[in-house]
Amino acid sequence: MKTIIKKVNRENPNEKIIMMASEIIKNGGVVAFPTETVYGLGGNSFDENAIDKIFIAKGRPQDNPLILHVSSIDEVYPLVERVDEKARLLMERFWPGPLTLVFNKSEKVSYKLTGGLDTVAIRMPKHNVALSLIKHSGVPIAAPSANTSGRPSPTEAKHVIEDMSDKIDMIIDGGSTGIGVESTVLDVSMDVPVILRPGGITIEDLLKIFPKVEYDQSILKDNVVPKSPGQKYKHYAPKAKMVVYNGEVENITTAIKNHAHQLVLEGKVVGIMATEETVANYDEGSVLVVGSRNKRDTIAQNLFSVLREFDSLNVDVILAEGIDTKGIGTAIMNRMKKACGGDIRHV
Ligand code: TXA
Ligand code: MG
Repeated sequence: MKTIIKKVNRENPNEKIIMMASEIIKNGGVVAFPTETVYGLGGNSFDENAIDKIFIAKGRPQDNPLILHVSSIDEVYPLVERVDEKARLLMERFWPGPLTLVFNKSEKVSYKLTGGLDTVAIRMPKHNVALSLIKHSGVPIAAPSANTSGRPSPTEAKHVIEDMSDKIDMIIDGGSTGIGVESTVLDVSMDVPVILRPGGITIEDLLKIFPKVEYDQSILKDNVVPKSPGQKYKHYAPKAKMVVYNGEVENITTAIKNHAHQLVLEGKVVGIMATEETVANYDEGSVLVVGSRNKRDTIAQNLFSVLREFDSLNVDVILAEGIDTKGIGTAIMNRMKKACGGDIRHV
């Protein structure tokens, strides 16, 4: 299959291109499109064949459910059993935006989409291209991140092209996504909201509205099975082995320098994921700056593309600096922990 690739303006996407993409969705095809978090791989959520195509293109395990993308709050009601006060408040406050809510599903939602679960995850992206595509398609769009399963999520069209060329019908190139890590997945089925995946909306944001918000135990501990199926897979992984160092910044840079030196002596190609504040400390290896410690948003924006860049440099080992878990830092460290398969060393 030859994949059609079209560039659009993020704020004001070309109507003809969006129409072309929505025709593909209506006819059961699969289209990659930008959102404010990462690129998604979209299909008609009411078409089981389209859902199959998404799972096949990604090589995704069947028990890992997809997120439904809507363009208005009204579209949620037919898809779920009920919307309580808490969920309504969250939608009004944070949509469109990087917050995915998990509801009990209605009969309209196929078990194929939910991986056999009785719940369904729904979000409204804050991106004109995504919203326009959903509106023109006339159906909620089922979309996981548009990467091959296990690879870092795509934040630019070129990442989607790397993974999905000739496997899907179309890629809409709307430039860099923005936030850079995926949406927060929040279970609102109980009294206290539970974060199943930390993301673009932080626990600090949610605590402004609710007195209590919890993390799923698996996010905090290593030996608990996560409630969100996707969280149990090794994920966001670069090809190289990765080690994350965490602790005081000075200790981190010293430990990474020592480790890098030892690896170079062993003849290994070393990549170092540094920050603007620390980059001057390193004199060995391929050093890439992921962002600034004082502006954690920049680290979120660049994390996945830096991991992909290390792959293209063919490094054997990536030594990465941990960052503190304030604000979006929790989501960043959650992705780093997955990328390194849990090899976080405290120094
Ligand atoms: O920002 C995002 O959320 C992006 C963009 C494209 O919208 N999408 C995304 O989708 O990250 P995906 O499929 O890569 O990740 C969806 C996550 C998975 O961890 C999945 O297990 C979880 O959401 N999920 C989906 N449905 C669920 C459900 N019913 N209960 C619990 N977790 C669910
Ligand atoms: Mg994903």
